[in-house]
Amino acid sequence: KRVAILISGGGSNMVSLVDSMTGDHPARPAVVLANSADAGGLQKAADRGIATEVVDHRDFKGDREAFEKALISALEPHDPDIVCLAGFMRILTPVFIDAFRGRMLNIHPSLLPKYRGLHTHARAIEAGDAEAGCTVHEVTPELDDGPILGQARVPIRPDDTPDTLAARVLTQEHKLYPAVLRRFAQGDRNPIYL
Ligand code: GRF
Repeated sequence: KRVAILISGGGSNMVSLVDSMTGDHPARPAVVLANSADAGGLQKAADRGIATEVVDHRDFKGDREAFEKALISALEPHDPDIVCLAGFMRILTPVFIDAFRGRMLNIHPSLLPKYRGLHTHARAIEAGDAEAGCTVHEVTPELDDGPILGQARVPIRPDDTPDTLAARVLTQEHKLYPAVLRRFAQGDRNPIYL
């Protein structure tokens, strides 16, 4: 299976996914695409010998459809079977989602269905939750709402800030996403709970 990974920033989840696709793993990274040329993850992908693409959403002046058609065109030569959104910070419409329906995953830093959208850690702390975590789900047109494929939980500590909690959750993301991708690439959609 050929995997395309979409990033916007440092790409730590991308690195975890790439480094997990070795040996008898049924998938291999085909391309890493970023929506900005200065995404730190691009260099990490290149260092690992992976093809990279940049499609900058700012080149399309708010025309979401044109941007997403450019994303599809950039991915096509790499012929991906699976698309993994990993710290990809653009909202996608059915134009892109329908092109990869049923074979596109995302990792979201909350225990969905709680805290869709942004600032998830601050919201969990503010709410006085005892736990936080991350979720890998299939991508559907509704934001952060597709079938859940895996979750990992961490405790929220009394002295946590959004940053200290984010760091604890990120460690779990790096375990959860590779575990889910391996199963998904074998056609197994049973959710994993770490
Ligand atoms: C992190 O906040 C992570 O929780 C979320 O995307 C952000 C960047 O992740 N999934 P990465 O280091 O670019 O993978």
